[in-house]
Amino acid sequence: MKLDETIAIVTGGASGLGGATARNFAAGGAKVAIFDLNREKGEALAAELGENARFFEVNVTDESSVQKGIAGTLDAFGQITANVNCAGIAIGIKTLGKDGAHSLETFKKVIDINLVGSFNVLRLAAAEMAKNEPNNEGERGVIINTASVAAYEGQKGQAAYSASKGGIVGMTLPISRDLAYNGIRVCSIAPGLFFTPLFEGLGEEVVESLSAQVTFPKRLGRPEEYGALARTIVQSPYMNGETVRLDGAIRLP
Ligand SMILES: NC(=O)c1ccc[n+]([C@@H]2O[C@H](COP(=O)([O-])OP(=O)(O)OC[C@H]3O[C@@H](n4cnc5c(N)ncnc54)[C@H](O)[C@@H]3O)[C@@H](O)[C@H]2O)c1
Repeated sequence: MKLDETIAIVTGGASGLGGATARNFAAGGAKVAIFDLNREKGEALAAELGENARFFEVNVTDESSVQKGIAGTLDAFGQITANVNCAGIAIGIKTLGKDGAHSLETFKKVIDINLVGSFNVLRLAAAEMAKNEPNNEGERGVIINTASVAAYEGQKGQAAYSASKGGIVGMTLPISRDLAYNGIRVCSIAPGLFFTPLFEGLGEEVVESLSAQVTFPKRLGRPEEYGALARTIVQSPYMNGETVRLDGAIRLP
């Protein structure tokens, strides 16, 4: 799919990996609808990107909130051809800690935002994409979800987070099969350690010690590198049904 013909919903698009994707796509001539809970950052980024970007205050876990965001996107741009799902949260809680068993409510919350939220947005976006005229490759849309290397090598305290990201990896192929008839591709990106607001508060020493664990290059990933891979997936009709690690070959213990 050509980038300057792309109209993309980017969830979590106010910050970090989603923000970098919104910037990359807008720079390539795409139209971008930023779906995020953070109004302040979302509006600021949309203003920076100009008339090809809009911010919608959307909670990805809420069906009617997503429907409103989609209606707003259609109003602004006429159709939807891409959906990149970056909205997510990370927690660190052990299954059995000093204070007892892992809170079930917290476990469900992480699954709800990271996994159910991604599915909620992509299913409603796909329903709109299916109405598009196919391009000369037969494509009507492309969906990109965000997993994590924690889907494969989760650390202590990552039961909920890893489960949510394993779910993203697991649903990638079946959704690509479901939507093949509609000409909609589905891929996921599994980032390693990226320098986003999630990491900015950790301090130089922690960042250095994390960087040392990366095989090559020995540094954290840059959000722009996620945006660049998302752009490549949009532009590559033969990429489908796969989760791509983007991690400097890190393999966490
Ligand atoms: N940064 C990393 O190293 C890293 C590594 C692997 C995976 N990831 C994944 O990448 C994604 C983006 O992470 P990031 O580092 O850019 O984080 P971030 O905190 O910078 O951005 C996440 C955004 O999601 C939004 N959000 C949270 N809950 C939401 C909801 N219910 N509805 C709408 N928006 C919501 C937040 O407001 C925020 O703007 C997450 O899914 C994260 O798990 C990040």
